[in-house]
Amino acid sequence: MMMMPSAGGRSPLFALAMSAGAMLVFIFGFMAWQSPSRIPFSHGTPARVESPIHAENSPVSINEIIRLLYAPLKAAPTEPFIREPNGSHIELPPNPRYKNNLGSEVLILDLETRPLKSTEDYEKGEYDWRNINHVSGGIFNHYTYALIHGYDYKFIHATNFEDRHATWIKPSALANHIKDYKFIVFLDADAAFRFLHVPIEWMLNYWDITPKHAFTMAKDPWDPNEPQYNSDRFNRSYTNTGFMVVQNTENTMPMLKAWHECPEDKRYANCSQWKQPKFHEQSAFGEYIRYDYDEYVKELDCGEANGFPGVQISNCQGKFVRHYWFEKHLVKVDYRENLMNAITLPIQKIFAENIGNIITKTQENVIH
Ligand SMILES: *[C@@H]1O[C@H](CO)[C@@H](O)[C@H](O)[C@H]1NC(C)=O
Ligand SMILES: *[C@@H]1O[C@H](CO)[C@@H](O)[C@H](O)[C@H]1NC(C)=O
Ligand SMILES: *[C@@H]1O[C@H](CO)[C@@H](O)[C@H](O)[C@H]1NC(C)=O
Repeated sequence: MMMMPSAGGRSPLFALAMSAGAMLVFIFGFMAWQSPSRIPFSHGTPARVESPIHAENSPVSINEIIRLLYAPLKAAPTEPFIREPNGSHIELPPNPRYKNNLGSEVLILDLETRPLKSTEDYEKGEYDWRNINHVSGGIFNHYTYALIHGYDYKFIHATNFEDRHATWIKPSALANHIKDYKFIVFLDADAAFRFLHVPIEWMLNYWDITPKHAFTMAKDPWDPNEPQYNSDRFNRSYTNTGFMVVQNTENTMPMLKAWHECPEDKRYANCSQWKQPKFHEQSAFGEYIRYDYDEYVKELDCGEANGFPGVQISNCQGKFVRHYWFEKHLVKVDYRENLMNAITLPIQKIFAENIGNIITKTQENVIH
């Protein structure tokens, strides 16, 4: 297993800035918790906090706000179980491998050939959550997830290929960044974390990802009405490239290179047939690459990290990662429900603990 230099390897000044930042966040959080009747976000001294992603110039960055909001909700990498909204528990199997947060050893990666449409609205001063499309919704979900757990985040705006479908940008983008990380977590814009408060380490533990697994992906569904639709030439289901956990192992670069070069028909005769037709790079990986590196690919059942609630085939209901092949607007609904949970928890706390003495109890209903 290759270890990447962690944040601890950086300069002592960086460490100092980090601990000062943590202290400020704590103080700020304490103030926000204790004095809800004031609105602490709008005034006060500018407390600039270094962040591993990027610092903002505003007095209090969204970075701090999100981390504060999720502090009471965040699951540990070894949390015994995750509670679903309906009350069910998803239990973590014994002997988890990842006990600590991996921080900036993890990159959350977005990859698009187009800029965000919502940025145009923003630049015109017309940003409105209700009008943004699912692409921005999905990408905001991924960015928020990186903020909550302190992972690195990048949005790569890639140039289209001239001879192949846009999704072929994935292998080279992964190859160009994996050397700096232990894991890259890649998601399509229509895929999103179901539980923003559950760190990727928890899922790696749950799925038993070991140091040999260069790729983790979920299978596509198998539909008896269209048995060949998602199957390769050996009748094996493709793995969906809409969600990938890529681990920095000795096999990762060779796999990414083989994948990227697949349509050149050198190592894999006839791979160029997947330059344009569905499912492009996903078919190439399924038809060729995985057969040369089978033991380094962890194939999850579809339902673990593919599909969404309501899908019948193969029970692909997006247990941890949802991938909306259709009804893509629901990406925004999931994100909204997650954020609303985090925002309203401290408001509920105020009512539960009568913070600021907002609750007046009356014994009898008379006019004094
Ligand atoms: C809760 O939802 C999950 C799917 O998200 C399902 O598997 C489970 O059976 C449900 N539990 C209850 C008690 O309804
Ligand atoms: C193809 O695989 C599916 C399961 O994924 C199986 O049910 C089906 O019988 C297989 N078809 C053939 C022709 O082997
Ligand atoms: C190459 O792909 C074409 C198009 O799918 C197919 O007709 C042909 O049989 C393939 N050749 C080989 C050797 O697999």
